[in-house]
Amino acid sequence: MLYRILAVGDVVGQSGVRHLAKHLRAAQKLYGAHFTVVNGENAQMVGLTREDAEAMFAAGADVVTLGNHAFGRAQIASFLDDCPYLLRPANLGERAPGRGYGVFPCGRVEIGVLNLIGRVDMRVQSDNPFRAADKLLAAADKPRFTLVDFHAEATSEKLALAHYLDGRVSALWGTHTHVPTADETVFPKGTGYLSDLGMTGSVNGVLGVEAAQSVEGFLGGLPGRYRDAGGACKLQGALFTLDDATGLCVAVERVDIR
Ligand SMILES: [Fe+2]
Ligand SMILES: [Fe+2]
Repeated sequence: MLYRILAVGDVVGQSGVRHLAKHLRAAQKLYGAHFTVVNGENAQMVGLTREDAEAMFAAGADVVTLGNHAFGRAQIASFLDDCPYLLRPANLGERAPGRGYGVFPCGRVEIGVLNLIGRVDMRVQSDNPFRAADKLLAAADKPRFTLVDFHAEATSEKLALAHYLDGRVSALWGTHTHVPTADETVFPKGTGYLSDLGMTGSVNGVLGVEAAQSVEGFLGGLPGRYRDAGGACKLQGALFTLDDATGLCVAVERVDIR
């Protein structure tokens, strides 16, 4: 049987959360998605609250992953400990609240979801994601499918990790840059890949942030706390088609709903 996994790029601001709530169910139906992973690190622009996570689950996310802004709103820490469906990057280390890997039922199979963070230009203390992946994939009672959200800036780091894990995970996609890439592919040993999913939120603005505010920051002014650009929104991500006979990927397509 083929399983279709919908991966959704960083939800930015309350306009992103609302857009997800409005369109995710229809997208799941349209694409015949069996399982959905949403990156939610920017629901409050920097970080998210428990209410945001619950809104994303209510919208249809099976698992919400995070990134460098995981703890932008510190009150999320206790919910990270309590909620197995909310993951922060596994390689943030053992002192961080919550967890970075989980195994979830989906029909007749189990799906492992691993959230990792890169180390190139990320300004976050983290362990080596390649070694962290080795450790987690070796320790885990291998579920039929394994998905990886690699939250990273550098395309080189994302591609290198995908090569390193080719054949060992079903799909690996990048998040964080908020700009989708056009390099969807299935690697030689069967791992589905896309360097970046893009974002869910305002079409205008700078990566979801109000444009004038971002420009002010680059001119040397004090931009202050990020404001949601609002207005027309998009939902971006990718659909990975996985075969339960092999545990690997047979097709990848990009998703962009406006
Ligand atoms: Fe990020
Ligand atoms: Fe982000």
